[in-house]
Amino acid sequence: MLPSIRTCQDFSELLTDDKLDALIIAVPATLHYQLTKLALNAGKHVLVEKPLALQTGEAEELVRLAEQSGKTLMVGHTFLYNPAVRKMKDHVDRGTLGKIYYMQAARTHLGLIRTDVSAVWDLAPHDISIFNYLLGKQPLRVSAVGMAHLNPKFEDVAFLSLVYPDQILGNVHISWVDSNKQRQVAIIGSKARIFFDDLNLLERLRIFEKGVSLDRPYESFGEFQLLLRDGDIISPKIDPEEPLRNVCLEFVRCIRTGEKPLADGQNGLELVRAMTAVQQSIALGGAPVDLEVGVVKPVLQRP
Ligand SMILES: NC(=O)c1ccc[n+]([C@@H]2O[C@H](COP(=O)([O-])OP(=O)(O)OC[C@H]3O[C@@H](n4cnc5c(N)ncnc54)[C@H](O)[C@@H]3O)[C@@H](O)[C@H]2O)c1
Repeated sequence: MLPSIRTCQDFSELLTDDKLDALIIAVPATLHYQLTKLALNAGKHVLVEKPLALQTGEAEELVRLAEQSGKTLMVGHTFLYNPAVRKMKDHVDRGTLGKIYYMQAARTHLGLIRTDVSAVWDLAPHDISIFNYLLGKQPLRVSAVGMAHLNPKFEDVAFLSLVYPDQILGNVHISWVDSNKQRQVAIIGSKARIFFDDLNLLERLRIFEKGVSLDRPYESFGEFQLLLRDGDIISPKIDPEEPLRNVCLEFVRCIRTGEKPLADGQNGLELVRAMTAVQQSIALGGAPVDLEVGVVKPVLQRP
């Protein structure tokens, strides 16, 4: 179909080809760590699909390797390069939403069912990477429940709760067993709600200028007043850009300039840290797990 594309049977052929400066690794997630490590050790710049690795220690090692070799390490957190998500970020940063109360995401459909990782590892990285990007922060604590209906080894449905700094909550529903296809992220703030529906080609983003907050500090119940805000529903123009193309352009730009991509190895590591905590919480039946720098600690096991 694409006769100009050179192919090979063995990944190691790519490592020894001096004409190749960079590799894009888009293989099953269970191979990300291994192939990325080989590529970095061979002196290649690497763009690897999400998640960077399936264990925090492995992700840390890849970040270290990239730093030591001075090569670009980028992770396919595609939504960070999605113009609708960038528009959301713009509104969050400009304060359109007021104080952010919580974020809610749903990523459900019948499959695509993978056989190497759970639906949690396959789908939740998208939403957690969006949450982290919008807030510019990582979760402090996670708890999650999941069930495996199709393959006893891997959860195919899960509900994730994340606690971010400033009392902001995040909620993610992922499923491979729901016929209702959803690709939605909502951010709810005191002044407005912003809603991203990746399946709505006409109105990918809508801003509901409605919200509820306290209009002023109060000292007694008599002074307590809620301010209900009612305004327009706005459907902002979204640039017709292809996220994956943006990812590739940034990868090439960063190789040339030496700048770090937005979705760099560190960003990939932070995501793996959160995902590892989610996995741990599921294994503990939903117990909260605290994330500290480099440490994932189940809260229930604290002294
Ligand atoms: N960022 C996104 O939006 C997004 C979307 C879809 C998939 N992904 C990620 O991309 C990755 C691949 O997903 P997919 O749907 O393309 O999977 P896939 O199973 O369709 O394709 C994987 C490819 O890897 C090849 N492969 C397997 N082992 C290999 C090896 N040892 N060396 C070289 N090639 C090997 C297979 O031949 C196959 O062509 C997954 O990690 C997934 O999470 C990301």
